[in-house]
Amino acid sequence: MAHQLIELKDISKSFQREQTIIAALSPVNLAVRREEFVAFVGPSGCGKSTILNMVAGLLPPTTGQLSYDGAPVRDLNRRVGYMTQKDTLLPWRNVADNIGAPLELACHKTGKTGRMDKIRQMVELVGLKGFEKHFPGELSGGMRRRVALARMLIYDPETLLMDEPFGALDAQLKLVMHDEIQRIVSLGHKTVLFVTHDLSEAIALADRVVVFSSRPGQIKIVRDIDLPRPRDVFRIRFSPRFTELHEELWDELKDEVKKGTDT
Ligand SMILES: Nc1ncnc2c1ncn2[C@@H]1O[C@H](COP(=O)(O)OP(=O)(O)O)[C@@H](O)[C@H]1O
Ligand SMILES: [Mg+2]
Repeated sequence: MAHQLIELKDISKSFQREQTIIAALSPVNLAVRREEFVAFVGPSGCGKSTILNMVAGLLPPTTGQLSYDGAPVRDLNRRVGYMTQKDTLLPWRNVADNIGAPLELACHKTGKTGRMDKIRQMVELVGLKGFEKHFPGELSGGMRRRVALARMLIYDPETLLMDEPFGALDAQLKLVMHDEIQRIVSLGHKTVLFVTHDLSEAIALADRVVVFSSRPGQIKIVRDIDLPRPRDVFRIRFSPRFTELHEELWDELKDEVKKGTDT
């Protein structure tokens, strides 16, 4: 059988902190198809970000095999773009220079003109026209997330790793971003791993939702989201099928969230 794009086989992860070993992730098995949108939900501390870090090649698994496009992930995975949970914009650089930063790294041979063109395209794509010269400190939360999004997309990675990308945005702005991300993903044929604590967001966007149990994280259930595409993210919450899926998954998630708050 042909391999899938991302394969986690019996992947576990523990961290050592001084004398104690923290088991972050119990063995996890998951395969993600090319162009699939998979959302992770689960209580905080169950290892969601750790999985993204491993797929990005920033962290080795403690046990198991992690492969990307049939090859083991050994060091930095250059075929993924990563929008981390923390805001990592460079405060001393303006919007355009933040977005262009990945292209300045040695591995990219884009010249200055090519870089300016790319930046212009990205600024348009994420709706930041007119703000190129602003500094991160002058932007709203939503705009900062747009800059981070553009910076991830600028080198056109085939896979997007997004860790609670819209967690800090208000409910309305989130929907606007969902609409945009859906468009970007389908136009660009991207594969996505998307971490969120917002179950509605996971259902609205994903082809499959993975619910994790509390730490050490384990996959509790994987659910296909059979809502037709393209989806109207502004109205999908009113569909009866959405409500059914939400109820079913919330029943799985709520016990874990309760346990999660004990730690
Ligand atoms: N670099 C690290 N060193 C030590 N412990 C870590 C490290 N990264 C994560 N952990 C621990 O591993 C567990 C899972 O973390 P994380 O993947 O960030 O969870 P989530 O993203 O699901 O909230 C947590 O208990 C966290 O404290
Ligand atoms: Mg996290």
